[in-house]
Amino acid sequence: MALAIMSSGGDSPGMNPAIKKFVDYAYKMGERPFLIYDGLEGLIDNKIKPATHHDVAGIVHRGGTIIRSSRSKRFFEYEYRQQAYNNLKEHDITGLIVLGGDGSFRAMEKFSSEFDLNFVGIPSTIDNDIYGTEYCLGVDTALNVIRDALDKIRDTASSFNRAFLVEVMGRHCGYLAIVSAMVSGAEVCIIPEVEFEYEKQGKRLREEVESGRNYVLAIVAEGTNQTSEVHKWLQDTIGLETRVSILGHIQRGGNPTVRDRMMAFDFTITAINHLLSHDNSNKMVAYQKGEFKLIEIKEVVSNQYQLPQRFLDAVSLLD
Ligand code: F6P
Repeated sequence: MALAIMSSGGDSPGMNPAIKKFVDYAYKMGERPFLIYDGLEGLIDNKIKPATHHDVAGIVHRGGTIIRSSRSKRFFEYEYRQQAYNNLKEHDITGLIVLGGDGSFRAMEKFSSEFDLNFVGIPSTIDNDIYGTEYCLGVDTALNVIRDALDKIRDTASSFNRAFLVEVMGRHCGYLAIVSAMVSGAEVCIIPEVEFEYEKQGKRLREEVESGRNYVLAIVAEGTNQTSEVHKWLQDTIGLETRVSILGHIQRGGNPTVRDRMMAFDFTITAINHLLSHDNSNKMVAYQKGEFKLIEIKEVVSNQYQLPQRFLDAVSLLD
């Protein structure tokens, strides 16, 4: 059987260990592995090559994805999806693994409903915002990058009378922000899922500043679009000189942590085993309560990820 793997959408640390395991395990199972370069764009343009062990040697410790990724507009058009399918047929590829987020899975769900193709998604995004799985590849590495940055910012913050506002990624999801706020002991965390009570929090912080607090660390999720507002509030209402750090794409880089490497191996083995099982339904590998499960891709793309209650509650526990 010819199997292929590709990355799609934002890259995440853990993709390379998954690609390595894909090639090694496919060979072990007697199958022919292919690598699709440049994501959906490469699938359209037939950038599909048979993989050797050599192609994936020395990559487990590297962030990003050696097969690169893309966000494809062309894939929205049927004629390009037809072209993509013809390319897979040309190589006799019948099973496809996609490392990506929910946008990529939506595209693949459409693709696999139109053409005869067996597809498995591996949730891979630092945002941790995919329905049905508690964990997405890359999250632990991103959290450690953010933690490291916050620890350093706290060092300088605590040496001055200042507030530091740090904007973190996550798209519309507050997961990265709240977990980072919890583990770095931030005083304030603002996420899209919980309305921020400026008045109440302002009163609390002003009282704390009056009784001796000399710095504040505030984490703002990018999805709130409130970075400028919070900056102004810290300066004018709380009365602290404020510096802003937007961590940006540094959060997507870095050597995958032990957790991300181990998760990559298990996600990939589960995905390949499904493709070899001849159960032709399209699935996503989900991590739930310590186990790897397969859930219908339809279910994944027709539902919205909800931040677990304990993280929503954690916002008010920072007070
Ligand atoms: O989905 C991953 C992510 O890094 C988000 O956190 C962020 O909003 C987005 O991708 C950035 O996308 P791009 O790399 O296209 O600017």
